[in-house]
Amino acid sequence: LEEFPIRTYRLALVGFGNVGEEFVRLLLAKDSVLQRDYGISWKLTGVASRRIGWVADANGLDPAAALDHRWPQPQATKKPAYVREWLAAAQADVLFEASSLDRRTGQPAIDHLQAALESGAHAISANKGPVVHAYRELRELAATRGRKFFFESSVMDGTPIFSMFPHCLPAVDLRGFRGILNSTTNVVLTEMEKGATLEAAVKRAQEIGVAETDPSDDLDGWDAAVKVAALAIVLMGAEIKLSDIEREGIRSLTPELVRAAHSAGMRYKLVCSAERTVNGVRARVRPEKLPMADPLAQLEGTTSAVRFDMDVFGLSIIEHKPGVIATAYGLLADFIRAVKS
Ligand SMILES: NC(=O)c1ccc[n+]([C@@H]2O[C@H](COP(=O)([O-])OP(=O)(O)OC[C@H]3O[C@@H](n4cnc5c(N)ncnc54)[C@H](OP(=O)(O)O)[C@@H]3O)[C@@H](O)[C@H]2O)c1
Repeated sequence: LEEFPIRTYRLALVGFGNVGEEFVRLLLAKDSVLQRDYGISWKLTGVASRRIGWVADANGLDPAAALDHRWPQPQATKKPAYVREWLAAAQADVLFEASSLDRRTGQPAIDHLQAALESGAHAISANKGPVVHAYRELRELAATRGRKFFFESSVMDGTPIFSMFPHCLPAVDLRGFRGILNSTTNVVLTEMEKGATLEAAVKRAQEIGVAETDPSDDLDGWDAAVKVAALAIVLMGAEIKLSDIEREGIRSLTPELVRAAHSAGMRYKLVCSAERTVNGVRARVRPEKLPMADPLAQLEGTTSAVRFDMDVFGLSIIEHKPGVIATAYGLLADFIRAVKS
């Protein structure tokens, strides 16, 4: 049997909501597998959010106490500029960015990731903002520092899309993609088919924990547009901004329209797509009436899917009913890849 030298990594997390907490639970659950199969041991040495402050202990925080939000020290200063001192106090080897998305600027997540890379840590993001607003800068900074900037969980959670292309599909020409990438609108449209109004359908999506308190970003297609931009920028090398994505949400769809389509054997879906044209990459998010035979029409609830059209073949990926553990898994997989490659 091959013996692995065990190395302990100090981990710091910005954002300790659904994703951050689930990631700590997954680290605990996978602890023995990480040691046995990868020689990875870990300590949680930093946790930060606006309310928690910047908590750090290079000797390790107790993960169970962190999950109970019991912190060992008085809360430190909450100034965002504190990130550099906090990373140093945590002696972080890896920073995980799981704070809320600011779709307009990608901040302060970009600053957190930049500070991590400059401090010599790997930078791993569940947050899409930095991918859309600072992909090239962060990638270059990571390369010059000999560290990794990974963000697998930012689109389709645990599904290995960003890591699949360079490693498993080298030298392909990705000509376009088409998919359903926003679960709230998918749930809402299914509920509207069953007879609910838009308001009632949104309430249902909130009850099952899919929609945010303010569902505007989902209904207006912003969340989907951010994901389309991230895929187009990273996988197609598109010089594209969020404002370049043609975007139409689902507010114009009435229950009558949705039900009439259903009766006619069709289904409305919020479709995300991008294609390479002579003028660059054209990307859009819009509701489309699909025949039932279209594989995208079959998707229900939180299930998401994307079809990639390459010069050599086409490839579809479906992520079946992901929970937040799927996002946490994306962070875990990035962690292993970052420290093992
Ligand atoms: N939920 C999913 O399944 C999923 C899937 C893929 C990607 N993501 C992405 O993962 C990230 C986290 O999602 P979530 O569901 O965990 O959200 P959440 O439950 O709302 O948690 C967000 C966390 O970020 C903290 N935060 C917000 N603004 C901050 C700031 N400026 N500085 C420091 N901390 C800040 C919040 O705490 P304070 O309010 O105390 O600051 C909270 O701890 C988001 O970017 C989201 O888009 C989520």
